[in-house]
Amino acid sequence: MHARTFAPAVGLVDGILYGGDYNPEQWSPSTWKEDIGLMKEAGVNLVTLGVFSWAILEPSEGEYDFSRMDILMELLSAGGIKVDLATGTAAQPAWASVAYTDIAPMDERGMRFSHGSRQSYCPNSPSYLRLSRALVEALGKRYAAHPALALWHVNNEVACHLQACTCDTCAALFRKWLASRYGGLERLNEAWGTAFWSQRYSSWEEIVPPRVSTASLNPAARLDYRRFMSDSFLDLVRGEAGILRRVSPGIPITTNLMWTDGADWFRLDGVVDALAYDSYPDPSEKESWRWAAYMFDLTRGHLGGKPWLLMEQAPSQVNWRPLNAAKKPGLMRLWSSQALAHGSDSVLFFQWRASVRGSEQFHSAMLPHAGASSRRHAEVKAFGMELARLSGKNGSLPGLAGSVVSARAALINSYDSWWFSQYRPFPTDAYDYQRFVRDWHDSLSRLHVPVDIISPRDSLDGYGLVLAPALFLADEELLSRLGSFVKDGGTLATGIGAAMVDEEGKVRTGGYGGQLARLCGIHIQEYDVETPRGGVTAGGYPVHAWFDLIEAAKETEVLAFYEGGSWLAGFAAATKAKAGKGNAYWLGTRAESSYLDAFMADCLAAAGIEGLVAAGPDIEACVRLTASGEELLFVMNHGEGEGRARPVTKGWKLVHGPGVIDEGEELALTPLTFAVLSRRA
Ligand code: GLA
Ligand code: ZN
Repeated sequence: MHARTFAPAVGLVDGILYGGDYNPEQWSPSTWKEDIGLMKEAGVNLVTLGVFSWAILEPSEGEYDFSRMDILMELLSAGGIKVDLATGTAAQPAWASVAYTDIAPMDERGMRFSHGSRQSYCPNSPSYLRLSRALVEALGKRYAAHPALALWHVNNEVACHLQACTCDTCAALFRKWLASRYGGLERLNEAWGTAFWSQRYSSWEEIVPPRVSTASLNPAARLDYRRFMSDSFLDLVRGEAGILRRVSPGIPITTNLMWTDGADWFRLDGVVDALAYDSYPDPSEKESWRWAAYMFDLTRGHLGGKPWLLMEQAPSQVNWRPLNAAKKPGLMRLWSSQALAHGSDSVLFFQWRASVRGSEQFHSAMLPHAGASSRRHAEVKAFGMELARLSGKNGSLPGLAGSVVSARAALINSYDSWWFSQYRPFPTDAYDYQRFVRDWHDSLSRLHVPVDIISPRDSLDGYGLVLAPALFLADEELLSRLGSFVKDGGTLATGIGAAMVDEEGKVRTGGYGGQLARLCGIHIQEYDVETPRGGVTAGGYPVHAWFDLIEAAKETEVLAFYEGGSWLAGFAAATKAKAGKGNAYWLGTRAESSYLDAFMADCLAAAGIEGLVAAGPDIEACVRLTASGEELLFVMNHGEGEGRARPVTKGWKLVHGPGVIDEGEELALTPLTFAVLSRRA
């Protein structure tokens, strides 16, 4: 179970943080006072400053110019608005790229990226690291004691545009990383299986990053390169955070992710104090809010369940999709409440004032091109006021900031499994690790069951149900912990090629899944994959992508067999076994919601976990627990029609929202609205 610390993500601001990225360098100083006046009217209490200010702060190497930043910090301070001050290192100035050719990252074809965008630096470049750290130190020292400073913002969306660099600097560091991982070349040759295709290495210098070659590369080498790049990006964050801790003690540190596979972000726990996420679900995509729910739980999970920060979202449309749909009235408010429901202590946007130039000139903003007298700004302002009434000093839910989500179900997310299963060739290109994990999360969402997303290294204590779908790569230590969890009374559900390979990417022999399959009372000799012919079903429902061909032991209950006239008929697709005091389920395939929700309901019943509300799938429900022992139940209606929800437990009273509880204790919500209920835990 995640730790419950009940500390607000940013204790220096009262209540929920409201505001956004503020890029005043794009405007003449004559707009700054107007900005701050409008911010105050809109309930803004925090802005993120300086994300892309490096070239202005350091116009030439070593010459700092903080004059504009000084004025802005003063103006914001006088306006009572706190600052999340960015280190500004996400886009180095052109002079740096020109003077130091080691900065430009290299792609898999050995081509250097050109300057002119952002994040165009190699995370290991000595020049980039020296220059960026000098800037962080100078900024840190200058503003450490500034009354406006509430939070440090390391870099910006690390590894968003670039997830790997293959330059010679990285190559040299990779060799060192390997030497410390394996000790000697013999061990590396064994772990990478270099007996294959004459790949044996006789000196460290022969090892190069995974650059494009004639055919497929070594899978274990690729996996290790992902791990090495992950450490490189994490070290980048660690480096900046370390400087800030030294020169600006006591100020919390965050970093914001757009979330990519560039690093194992669970390893940011302990590096930053609060993790931030930039959420951009597509308003035109059906149920994109469910994807956001997954991302919110994942962000919270990355830092062991602490309140996190919604650092960015679009007030309306973004500019970077082929089609950028606007958010219709009410949607921004609903999706903001969703972040709060999942444990965020903030509702922040990209960005305050809409740009008129530059590549984001068509991105929506809190203060749109139309100005303050506009539908969009009115919604921003109304929600800012609402949040102040809700969570401010004298608000109706003063304990909201710093409250935690308490879940009895956990979902394991393994970056190693993700990285490994991205390798091609693979048994099927349709093996989509995050999609499979998300399917199971979606199912819990439809069943209104809160869930923590945890790393394979996290403790399983306190959970009744652990889900480990598609855990393709797993070490023996994790498998035995899962075994103990079940034997001590827990319910485990796993499958879809789980535990096929160990931590070195080596296939387990003698039956796929090793001890995990034995725990589940099954034997898997073979798998098959979906082909365009399709037509495979399980328990009467269509199944996809991957088929573990399961032979169930005598005592193991078969929940569904494959059918559909193919030779798979007769093999089990889903099973349930007793092991010790608990239950171990295996679902060997990607099932649609029609079957998956029934399977999940079975697992939940075995674990004794109920949904929070009885309601249809367009209703979302989440619960936060405050330091003073109050439960806050958020109920959101994502549907187009009126939504009804009945809490499954008693004693709730409506504390916020337009919904009404009728005599049957049922809540009625108009489309795109939310309500908050509370009770003593
Ligand atoms: C990201 C960045 C912002 C901005 C937005 C636009 O999240 O952090 O600087 O580019 O995208 O959606
Ligand atoms: Zn590099």
